[in-house]
Amino acid sequence: MEEKQKKIIVTGAQPTGMFHLGNYLGAVKNWRTLQHDYECFFFIPNLHSITVPPYVPAELRKRTYSMLAQYLACGLDPESSHMFAQSSVVGHTELSWILGCLTPVGQLFRMTQFKSKSENNDFVGSGLLYYPILMAADILLYNADCVPVGEDQKQHVELTRDLAIKFNQTYSETFKVPEPYILKTCARVYSLQNPTKKMSKSDANKKGTVFLFESPEDIQKKFRSAVTDSGSGIYCDPEKPGITNLVEIFAAVTEQSIEAVENQYRSYDYGTFKNVVAEAVIEHLKPIQAKYAELMADQTYLQSVLDKGREFAQKCANRMMAKVYRKAGMI
Ligand code: AMP
Ligand code: TRP
Repeated sequence: MEEKQKKIIVTGAQPTGMFHLGNYLGAVKNWRTLQHDYECFFFIPNLHSITVPPYVPAELRKRTYSMLAQYLACGLDPESSHMFAQSSVVGHTELSWILGCLTPVGQLFRMTQFKSKSENNDFVGSGLLYYPILMAADILLYNADCVPVGEDQKQHVELTRDLAIKFNQTYSETFKVPEPYILKTCARVYSLQNPTKKMSKSDANKKGTVFLFESPEDIQKKFRSAVTDSGSGIYCDPEKPGITNLVEIFAAVTEQSIEAVENQYRSYDYGTFKNVVAEAVIEHLKPIQAKYAELMADQTYLQSVLDKGREFAQKCANRMMAKVYRKAGMI
């Protein structure tokens, strides 16, 4: 009974590869906290992953299971949340068609992500332009109250709100108008090599990005060669982006406040502090890494989680699509 009254969260991360510390601290670790208070749909937007071709189908399939294993290893709970592949639920693409017919093309061409992803590309598929509409369908299909995303996806959630309002006005009250939920803690983890730039998996300088499933030796090496600032003292300061980033990472993995970390480590030299951070990250990741390895060896279990999630999501989607089609005059 109580389950029904919980507010609904819908979110997901594209199956593009392995999480890095930015994805983990900036997104998934927070989803883990939210899952107790909300009814959560943590799906895997695999249809979004083919919007910038080329891609290898067998790789995508593998990465979809890997993404689920990463969700689970990071502590998302398949008992209380619904996890499934976007492509496995009928309704996402259908709803996106209906919503697309209400979307002015100009608004799509103005999307920042469309502009940046289509730049310098010989081939720009219509899917890339349509991407935000599919995302709106993902969200509205489950009547989400809240959509936890990074700053970069906020514009897409705003389009989703516009489309919910437009549909409601055109046909009659149907969708909840969802709120973006921009996560505050560790909203941005910066590159260890260029601490004014976001940590990113597509960074050409691989030394700046710490992936969750790297060996302790590699993690140690990356932190040791982290770019720091001139001067001394371990504390946060806009003039010290390198040390600030390390303090924030350390505070996040050890669940302490920035002040507590500054108080304890202020007099440490940079080299020693880098080792302290590396050790803390390695320790924090150990159980996650072990769990991931265990899960990846058990495809049957992963499939069972997806099947259970799909079954539930499909029921919700069917209910919503029946309503949408009825209101839109489809027989
Ligand atoms: P992406 O890897 O860009 O698809 O992002 C997946 C999720 O991780 C999104 O919610 C992003 O906002 C978040 N994210 C990606 N990079 C960072 C970063 N460097 N710091 C904090 N959050 C990030
Ligand atoms: N576009 C999101 C990203 O790249 C992923 C995504 C697709 C999503 N559909 C969504 C996130 C619906 C939240 C809700 O990060």
